[in-house]
Amino acid sequence: MTTFGIHDIELVTTHHALDLAELARARGVDPAKFEIGLGQTRMSVPAPDEDAVTMGATAALRVLERHGSDRLRSLLFATESGVDQSKSGGMFVHGLLGLPPQMRVMEFKQACYAGTAALQAAIAAVARDPGAEVLVVISDVAKYELDSSGEPTQGAAAVAMLVKADPALVEIEPETGMFSAEVDDFWRPNDSTTARVDGALSLKAYLDALIGSWDDYAARGGRAIEEIDRFLYHQPFTKMAVKGHQRLGRHTGADLTAEQLETSRTYNRVLGNSYGASIYAALASLLHHEDGLEGKRIGFYSYGSGSVGEYFTGVVRPGYREHLHPEPIQSDLAARPSISFDEYVALHETVLSSAEDVETPRVTGAPFRFAGIRGGARQYERNA
Ligand code: CAA
Repeated sequence: MTTFGIHDIELVTTHHALDLAELARARGVDPAKFEIGLGQTRMSVPAPDEDAVTMGATAALRVLERHGSDRLRSLLFATESGVDQSKSGGMFVHGLLGLPPQMRVMEFKQACYAGTAALQAAIAAVARDPGAEVLVVISDVAKYELDSSGEPTQGAAAVAMLVKADPALVEIEPETGMFSAEVDDFWRPNDSTTARVDGALSLKAYLDALIGSWDDYAARGGRAIEEIDRFLYHQPFTKMAVKGHQRLGRHTGADLTAEQLETSRTYNRVLGNSYGASIYAALASLLHHEDGLEGKRIGFYSYGSGSVGEYFTGVVRPGYREHLHPEPIQSDLAARPSISFDEYVALHETVLSSAEDVETPRVTGAPFRFAGIRGGARQYERNA
């Protein structure tokens, strides 16, 4: 039987990071609150010439360098931190990568859930045309107000996944559970570069959608919880995955363990929130850090405020380790310079207006950079 799912995955982040111990010192908070209470030690901070497009393009480049674009029929770009109200971030990626014109390019939005909507659309597309491939790019910069409750949960990352028939990494199974409820837990007005959040309500909405989507998954013939070996959760901060796991255990009566999600938290602890990318950063983390997952079933809980939850499962393919490329993200994470609190504040406060032409300073060493604004239009270029 033909299977459909994730054939390749790449995770990319920003040039800089802020140590949360430095943020805690500046804010007069016990560092243990961030490290233990939230489960975070660093957060990615974009350089002035980085954004959701540059990170997404780099992740996509790394995947396409291995597979080419001959069978690519769609590029689905998912983001909360889009760079234009009209033009898809995917169009910039399409241009930067010199992809063929004979393909569909678009952007998906529903807060942190959008990447899963794109993944499921990609699976549907390749199920209809099994010779085709779809590139899913999920890229986000999580940005809250300075000195707000959400500040220590900022971050940034992009994930690119090649979706096709007979995938090498993870077969996505057809059963899926949904839960949607209109709620003002987290949102970002059109005229704001920072998200607004009702912290307590957001935790409740996340957990309500977890139980709602799990119940729908179970009612529609999903696997018994005992058949799921590893659990991935949307990780706005990694402790949230622990809270979700505990809640799911109580709800189902299953004896769930911390080990079932531990390796999925490694990257997100030092990336911070990457909204839509975070659950797929968790997938990369799991696959990169665990041997012997062949045939193991993974549960995915994807959540996007506002709010949508989806529960689904995937099965790890035999030989998956031969198709993984952990080196770029691991060396990037090790090489990231830490910035000072003052540098972080200056970067946070820089907001460019489309009314003025500007050239950004050359900072990132990534393959693509945001060069500035000319005539109101964002300019991207290959890094020299
Ligand atoms: N040592 C160790 N732990 C400590 C501590 C210390 N000195 N001080 C506090 N803590 C613990 C607390 O006990 C708490 O842990 P538990 O929840 O397990 O009890 C944890 O640190 C956080 O403490 P508070 O609840 O007091 O923290 P807060 O009021 O500053 O806010 C938050 C926490 C609401 C999550 C806030 O960071 C926030 O608003 N974040 C953004 C919203 C968010 O991420 N919501 C998640 C669900 S919504 C979603 O998932 C979509 C999305 O991506 C945004």
